[in-house]
Amino acid sequence: MNLLGIADLDSAALDGLLRTAAAYRPLLEEPSAKVDHLRGRTVVNLFLESSTRTRVSFELAGKLLSADVINFGSGGSSLAKGESLRDTVETLSDMGFDAIVIRHASAGVPHQLTGWTDAAVVNGGDGMHEHPTQALLDCLTLQQTFGPDISGLSIAFVGDFAHSRVARSATLAFSALGATVTLVAPPTLLPHDLSPWPARVVHDLDALIDEDPPDVVYTIRPQAERMSEALYPSVAEYVIRYGITDERFARLPARTRLLEAGPLVRGVQMSNAVADSPRNLMHNQVRNGVAVRMAVLATVLDAVPAEWVEGEQ
Ligand code: CP
Repeated sequence: MNLLGIADLDSAALDGLLRTAAAYRPLLEEPSAKVDHLRGRTVVNLFLESSTRTRVSFELAGKLLSADVINFGSGGSSLAKGESLRDTVETLSDMGFDAIVIRHASAGVPHQLTGWTDAAVVNGGDGMHEHPTQALLDCLTLQQTFGPDISGLSIAFVGDFAHSRVARSATLAFSALGATVTLVAPPTLLPHDLSPWPARVVHDLDALIDEDPPDVVYTIRPQAERMSEALYPSVAEYVIRYGITDERFARLPARTRLLEAGPLVRGVQMSNAVADSPRNLMHNQVRNGVAVRMAVLATVLDAVPAEWVEGEQ
């Protein structure tokens, strides 16, 4: 089995991954706790684009499942000498591995890998396409905070949707779980085709806060590294219209929580005080990411004992 995107998951598969992640989650509170669900299996983490959270949490997840974990990047490998990605993956396959986690700057590369290896392929983020494990950890964090049924939640993303794989995957996942999603952005930061996005669009963040305040605000970093032209007048202008400033935060209801995938641009997406508020769930998200990645690795390798899926361990 592969995990290439949230778009490929039916509701049973999405629910199964979240239940398995919830079952693994308590392990993270036990010092030196490990399970042997992937003993004798090898996981390759092939990260060809920068990452802190996803790369390290996949490594930790593999180790907590007792897998042998190989971390591989372009630096120091023969990719730097011009070897193709296909030849690299086939070379690693010749040595033998059971699952490969790929992060790449180009959309569709995880799908390509499925033609080059019989191992399970997991998308760790591909260009502007999908980031399925981020969406899963976001769902787990909301279930942990608001209860297992999040179908009544209103979730407002604020920021750059033209370049964000995080927003695309999370919108699909939240919507599949019954939540209502709103995208808040200037027209220049919206994708050209919004038909695959199960969300409404508004441009005025202040009107949303005052007239229809959401349960969750999820800020999406302006992805400057993926922009070929200026899409808003200035950073200061962006903050004035779309930053979660102290003043806007004070106008949100006390129930409202913040999600933030990271890396966070403080002072742009939100103020320092908002970032450090206990209502910002970004640290919970990072921790839940380890449990989610354990669930994903064990699931794609068909190695989750039945009692763990049901959460009865
Ligand atoms: N959220 C996320 O994907 O972070 P990294 O780029 O640090 O992995």
